[in-house]
Amino acid sequence: HYRDAFANERDTDWSLRQNSEWINGLIAAEKEKSGEEIPLVINGEQITTNLWGVGRDPSRHNEVSYKFAYADFDRVEHALDTADKARTSWAARSVGERAEILHNAARELSAIRGEAIAAMVRDAGKAPTEADVEVSEAIDFCRYYAEGLDRDGMNDGVEMTPLGTVCVMSPWNFPFAIPTGGVAAALMAGNTVVFKPSELAVYTAWQIVQAFWRAGVPKEVLQFVPMPRNEISHKFLTDPRLHGVIMTGSYRTGKMLRELRPDLAVLAETSGKDAMVITATADPDQAVKDLVKSAFGHSGQKCSAASLAIVEASVYDNPAFLRQLKDAAASLKVGGSWEVNSVVTPLIKEPEGNLLRALTQLEPGEEWLLKPEQSEDNPCLWSPGIRLGVKPGSWFHQTECFGPVLGIIRAENLEEAIDIQNDSEFGLTGGLQSLDEREIALWKSKVQVGNAYINRVITGAIVRRQPFGGWKHSSMGPGSKAGGPNYLTLLGRWSEKELPQ
Ligand code: ALA
Repeated sequence: HYRDAFANERDTDWSLRQNSEWINGLIAAEKEKSGEEIPLVINGEQITTNLWGVGRDPSRHNEVSYKFAYADFDRVEHALDTADKARTSWAARSVGERAEILHNAARELSAIRGEAIAAMVRDAGKAPTEADVEVSEAIDFCRYYAEGLDRDGMNDGVEMTPLGTVCVMSPWNFPFAIPTGGVAAALMAGNTVVFKPSELAVYTAWQIVQAFWRAGVPKEVLQFVPMPRNEISHKFLTDPRLHGVIMTGSYRTGKMLRELRPDLAVLAETSGKDAMVITATADPDQAVKDLVKSAFGHSGQKCSAASLAIVEASVYDNPAFLRQLKDAAASLKVGGSWEVNSVVTPLIKEPEGNLLRALTQLEPGEEWLLKPEQSEDNPCLWSPGIRLGVKPGSWFHQTECFGPVLGIIRAENLEEAIDIQNDSEFGLTGGLQSLDEREIALWKSKVQVGNAYINRVITGAIVRRQPFGGWKHSSMGPGSKAGGPNYLTLLGRWSEKELPQ
């Protein structure tokens, strides 16, 4: 019955002029702000240390946008001690009370939709449309998890003991939805939370945490603790008073955490190298539209983004298809996130490593269908790139690059395309464009990804409708998915005799 009871929050309707006027006003106000000093919040106190981090606006790369306090060793100890002391009283709150607080949080987030969008435009270089859907998703997470224990039949005479203290380690690429989901889930399951946001999106995280406090989450139950990636976060992560981590980040970070603390409950959504297969039966207009959106939305900085298209030979060999794809990608407006209608916005930081290589160097046999260009004004801003002739098994086929570069691989037929798609250490999202029922059935039975999408974009999973999480090295933990059933049950412990039948 819950299927009918849960309604997803609506995104803003940008076709209405009053909505674009509303957001443009808030964005203009945000653009005037700068120089905030964001404190740590430990045991309800706002604290600064002599360790400061710097927040940058990707669209105004050379300026300092704001500063934020990092925890030092003493503050890590203080936060862990506070969380540990707060565990019992929070766990003792009834499921109904915790649910009510999450519903309040959903209302608080809804009330700051515009401000949150403007914060992401400034903090993460997000286009307003990309930021808007994050706010909807964050609200969905709160409402969905609020009813989670009841829905999973776990509040029916069966007692779940919370893990204890959970750290939410959030990413910069979905700086609003993903941390909100982690915080909401951990709190709903009765855990105290130490929120350790990405150092690249602290300002957005600061908006979220304040909304949760306004909603009634006690400040000792949810603490705000940015930490540097050094021995300070090492001390925190190795402390036995920390019982669980919800993280989104690279496979490398997840693996490091596993090795550091094999005893820790880790729910991690990690890397991806996601592909869309396009067969000869696909509708080319739809395929191009969905591929371009999946590859270049938020400049490809999504774990779910299409980084590869594996195209059946007769389509690949058709110059009209390639021209259409090239023209569609080239038509996207490249610009700062403050500029109206920018689609391809600045990267979170200047590209380096694999991404720089993907944007600047071809592998043997490859050519540019569309060569990415770096803006002269902003080293973070790159136009979309499309690599043609990517070889199965090559560096680009198998390396996560996380930016506005798409590689095209030619496959003789669908079977070969599926083999190429599955030949990856990752398995997060994947897509098929085909209008043939048999092809669809074959692909569905063989594709090794957590989120498989047919004839649509491969990003933008919707809470409850598309629970999100991958296979292979794209996830860690017991395999459940954010925004789906049973997620909360992984944030608690069950004694043998209490296990639900
Ligand atoms: N949940 C995000 C998406 O589906 C990562 O695009």
